[in-house]
Amino acid sequence: MKEKQNSAKITAQTATGQEEGETLILGIETSCDETSASVVADGRRILSNVVSSQVELHARYGGVVPEIASRHHLALINSIIDDALDEAGLKFSDLRAIAVSHGPGLVGALLVGVATAKALSYALRLPLVAVNHLEAHLYANYLNGAPLTYPAVILIVSGGHTELLLIEKAGTITSLGRTRDDAAGEAFDKVARVLELGYPGGPLIDKLAREGDPAAIKFPRSWLEEESRYDFSFSGLKTAVVNHLYHARRRDEEINIPDLVASFQEALIDVLVEKTVSAALDHQALSVMIAGGVAANSRLRARLKERLTKKIPSAPLHIPPLELCTDNAAMIAAAAYPLYRQGKFAPLDLNAHPGLGIGARR
Ligand code: KG4
Ligand code: ZN
Repeated sequence: MKEKQNSAKITAQTATGQEEGETLILGIETSCDETSASVVADGRRILSNVVSSQVELHARYGGVVPEIASRHHLALINSIIDDALDEAGLKFSDLRAIAVSHGPGLVGALLVGVATAKALSYALRLPLVAVNHLEAHLYANYLNGAPLTYPAVILIVSGGHTELLLIEKAGTITSLGRTRDDAAGEAFDKVARVLELGYPGGPLIDKLAREGDPAAIKFPRSWLEEESRYDFSFSGLKTAVVNHLYHARRRDEEINIPDLVASFQEALIDVLVEKTVSAALDHQALSVMIAGGVAANSRLRARLKERLTKKIPSAPLHIPPLELCTDNAAMIAAAAYPLYRQGKFAPLDLNAHPGLGIGARR
């Protein structure tokens, strides 16, 4: 425990113990810079969710260094799993399956989780369930306990992905559109980097933007052509911020950083909100969900709620609690539950798939 605290921040979330007849699944998540293990009962009730974030280790480099991430996953994974069982008051023999995120993500980082899960599955003779990390993000909403109604439109916004999904009925998931270049979280991180605010940029910009005027600078909104109306593009916005800085510095103008980041954030959020609302209208959604690290953004949460209430009052917005927006293993264990019920188990030669897309299962 000591070692872990020296190098990483540990957060844990615990509920009450096991109840009779519940299916307990151990989830393992190592796709990027969070090492996490969790036990979830029946895909809904979190018994433990131990997350060790490496953010401080990568901050000095301004982004995740894959090699450092893999090494730390390797150093921590066994004790994080032990902690997850301890927190839940359980033994390995109480588990029914081992679930792991096998993509998308950093290949070396994913491999640590995949190899650990395979070893546990083999040694404990428990089924192995391979979970798509992106799809797992939306399961943070199921853990929220809210009853979900379909069709549902989901906006997944993370450091690596920006994607609009449609679930017509339980189990059928299709992609409506995605980013053509930078993901929303990536745009936040890159703008923060240019401004030397620190890493990860999303939470820092979120906080700083509260002191700024979102209408101070008119940055471009990229709506794209009609046939790609659910796709996103944020690289132009990022370049516009860089150009704004360059010209302001050349003219020796004082730069108001809160105004700048509030205006950048507003441009990005306008696009996320309007595309999500129009997808919900077009598909007569009965619920709307957001998931992924950027779903923690306070302005996005407030603006989307406000716009949906106005445009489609009958479609409630489901937002995961903050600690379940960013990467965690509870969402992996929750996503594994329906696969476990359908007997969709992974073979012991399961590999990591860094580019795994929505709906893809290997
Ligand atoms: O889902 P996640 O933890 O990891 C990936 O799978 O990528 O998302 C991390 C991303 C980072 O880019 C981070 O800057 C962003 O989520 N993020 C935020 C906020 N909290 C995290 N972006 C905007 N506002 C936030 N409050
Ligand atoms: Zn993620």
